[in-house]
Amino acid sequence: MYAYKDLQKATNNFHDNMKLGQGAFGAVYKGVLDGSEIAVKVLLPEVQQGMEDFSNEIVLVTSMRHKNLVKLKGCCFGNREQRILVYEFVENNNLAEVIFEGKGDLNMDWPIRKNICIGIASGLKYLHQDVQPPIIHRDIKPANILLDIDLNAKIADFGLARLFPKIGSHVSTINIVGTMGYLAPEYISLGQLSEKIDVYSFGVVLLEIVSGRRSIDHKFDGDQIFLLNWAWRLHEEDKLLDLMDQKLNDSYIHEEILHTIKVGLLCVQVTPSRRPSMDKVVAMLKGNMGIEVVIKESQYQSDNHDPFLRNEESSNVHLSIIDEKSNMDEKPFMGLGDMKTKLSHISSYSYGNTFNASQISSVGGFIELSKPR
Ligand SMILES: Nc1ncnc2c1ncn2[C@@H]1O[C@H](COP(=O)(O)OP(=O)(O)OP(=O)(O)O)[C@@H](O)[C@H]1O
Ligand SMILES: [Mg+2]
Repeated sequence: MYAYKDLQKATNNFHDNMKLGQGAFGAVYKGVLDGSEIAVKVLLPEVQQGMEDFSNEIVLVTSMRHKNLVKLKGCCFGNREQRILVYEFVENNNLAEVIFEGKGDLNMDWPIRKNICIGIASGLKYLHQDVQPPIIHRDIKPANILLDIDLNAKIADFGLARLFPKIGSHVSTINIVGTMGYLAPEYISLGQLSEKIDVYSFGVVLLEIVSGRRSIDHKFDGDQIFLLNWAWRLHEEDKLLDLMDQKLNDSYIHEEILHTIKVGLLCVQVTPSRRPSMDKVVAMLKGNMGIEVVIKESQYQSDNHDPFLRNEESSNVHLSIIDEKSNMDEKPFMGLGDMKTKLSHISSYSYGNTFNASQISSVGGFIELSKPR
């Protein structure tokens, strides 16, 4: 437990100059306390949990130790019951800034990227399979992967989603926390929460690391806008290496890169039970395990059905869409244009299919999508 006045001092009274950034859960400041650097996250007032639940949660997360997890050092209750988390400071920015924006001008050759992929996978394996109760991260994305001085990956913000039981963040249907572009289809459409949603998001991150581009990027045309659509097409055309970041063009690693792309595709399969568990992912990335068959599915298959049969009942997908920056209470109806844009992101991204405007049959909170042909 930290004293509020010590954190005030460490962060120069939460001065803007010390601000590292702002996410869905609150703002993060850099600080120096007793000579060591820390990162201080001031959570938004929306944290609904009482002090006791909050403290229990923090105790749980503080007890976790793994070289690929950002260490939570402790917490603090500020004025007006504000909740503050104190983390170890991680030196080399987050993966999104490094890989997409070239921040820090770091060497991102294949051995380094491969080590980052294995690091993230190992951290996730620990959260899913080595701790009790298991932790589902729910917001795996490059912005939540920090890089230390030796460019090892450290997963940030694990356990945080559990502190926000009632609010949604970037995308919300009833109770969904996560970020557009990384959300598993069963989580968006059915609210089904399992470790496999992290496996899905991890698969997206893997493909981003290999391709050096964001999962949704409007700089591209057609199906290339959505990394997954593009990847599945290249898979069908047997041209998966086209996905590789041109900066990595070095022939001796092609085999490994192709292998990594296939692991990524395994992880983003639509049916959760087809996605591998994280221990298998780690083994595959380290080259200790072969790759199972990767299957492109156009529809989410309920795990209760024979996955090889088309499930006609699931051909209509109901999505409740809430704008990133507003919530349903304030803005119950988006304009149709906005809605279609959002929808095209979510649906084409999540299902490997692009729904065009004529397939949207009702509007207003819920949207019905007719089956793509
Ligand atoms: N322990 C840390 N050490 C160094 N920088 C950090 C640390 N934790 C967070 N940051 C930086 O602070 C910024 C804000 O982080 P924050 O987690 O609030 O937002 P986010 O990751 O973009 O979104 P989300 O809320 O979905 O996690 C990010 O740029 C991140 O790199
Ligand atoms: Mg974060």
